[in-house]
Amino acid sequence: MSHGLVTMSYIVAAILFILSLSGLSNQETARRGNYYGMIGMAIAIIATTLSGYVIAYQILIIGLLIGGAIGLYAARQVEMTQMPELVAIMHSLVGMAAVLVGYANFLDTTHSLVGVEKTIHDVESYIGIFIGAVTFSGSVIAFGKLSGKINGKPLLLPARHGFNLVLLIVTFVLGYYFLHHYPSENPFLTQTIGLPANETGAFLALLAMTLIALILGVHMVMAIGGADMPVVVSMLNSYSGWAAAATGFMLSNDLLIITGALVGSSGAILSYIMCRAMNRHFISVIAGGFGTGSGNGPAAEIEGEVTPISAEETAQLLRDAKNIVIIPGYGMAVAQAQHTVNEITKLLRGQGKTVRFGIHPVAGRMPGHMNVLLAEAKVPYDIVFEMDEINEDFPKVDVSVVIGANDIVNPSAMTDPNSPIAGMPVLECWNSQTTIVMKRSMASGYAGVGNPLFVMDNTRMLFGDANDTLQTVLKTLNQ
Ligand code: TAP
Repeated sequence: MSHGLVTMSYIVAAILFILSLSGLSNQETARRGNYYGMIGMAIAIIATTLSGYVIAYQILIIGLLIGGAIGLYAARQVEMTQMPELVAIMHSLVGMAAVLVGYANFLDTTHSLVGVEKTIHDVESYIGIFIGAVTFSGSVIAFGKLSGKINGKPLLLPARHGFNLVLLIVTFVLGYYFLHHYPSENPFLTQTIGLPANETGAFLALLAMTLIALILGVHMVMAIGGADMPVVVSMLNSYSGWAAAATGFMLSNDLLIITGALVGSSGAILSYIMCRAMNRHFISVIAGGFGTGSGNGPAAEIEGEVTPISAEETAQLLRDAKNIVIIPGYGMAVAQAQHTVNEITKLLRGQGKTVRFGIHPVAGRMPGHMNVLLAEAKVPYDIVFEMDEINEDFPKVDVSVVIGANDIVNPSAMTDPNSPIAGMPVLECWNSQTTIVMKRSMASGYAGVGNPLFVMDNTRMLFGDANDTLQTVLKTLNQ
């Protein structure tokens, strides 16, 4: 394929990626956005494969087949509730790719760059490897935390901010040594990987920096936990974009630079939106230490008696209600109850009742988790409201139905400064006349905090798997 045609294809792909992102910002256009993204990626892959850059098709095809097969298998196997873990581990691969390309770039001595061009080439490699290594190790830890393989609580080392600062300063110092190529005789490196003598010092500086970047990634993500994990997920998404952009610079691939920058900046904007939704400062979350409460004492114990309710009594309460709000959470995803929820919603709306959904920005385990489930079950978009749009309406609501949600409806976020989720805005369903909470036990949610909502006078607990209990509610409503 001619250079002009490759450039043309890259421009078309870049435009499709931008259209894809804009489509994904709205539920109604999200499907179309996905199609734009897929077509753009197909054009990008075909154009790159047929461009003059590819010199060994056998290796490329083997790589595509192995990578494609693993991706296909993972995507088919993964449960909806495991998506965040899958996304986290995919981010780690982007980071690893940036590190490997960076090293390949550095070790490639076939180019004849000198002066400023050589410095730019080295800076690209150094920054690319740094971002890639932070993304890689941070994403592996995020994967561990999200999948429950590592304790989800934040790890708070006594001088953690100072530690991070020292790591950053050492990174800059090593960068200075790397760029100035101080000669360091190292016959071992020269013989084993064929490095010229004047590059061995730079190579050792690069190795040391990579180790530091890996430690930084681990430490930064270990220090974040509990209810603040959503910000980590979107932040690592952003880092993986910048890592891809850095790879694009190293490979002189304009499309990779554009795509990386799109992912990097949209991930950063998403992280910012999530921080605002959770009433957190972006920098504080990155520096770590949230999810531990802002007060000085322990979180308040939850005291009081719960009032259980049966599925049949729940159906009766719904029959008597006119204004109903449904609040879905992670448990709805676990129980895969969205289709039954939609059936009940249709039935109640058919009886002339107002039924709306209240969606918390961090409900579930990934951004937009609840919206995806409700869209899959074909719940109409116009009855799905964001937290800010519906919170003031709760005093006028007859029945709020909380389906497998916990942290996002926890009043202690507003009342207890020692709570790990203190300051996080929540759906204030307790202001409605009656709140029905569906869950299997009194267990806490992701942030591991007790929930005083469960023992409030106007709360009724409907214990059991959400889908089973909702099926019984539906059956009773149909009788
Ligand atoms: P959670 O606070 O995690 O509560 C979910 C509740 O669902 C649990 O208390 C559990 O109680 C119940 N449950 C689980 N399986 C169930 C089933 N089959 N049937 C009925 N109930 C079931 O969820 P949430 O309220 O959606 O809040 C989300 C939390 O995850 C926040 O802390 C958020 O910060 C965090 N987080 C979010 C994200 C994103 S991006 N959304 C990413 C990572 C972490 P039982 O065990 O008693 O049933």
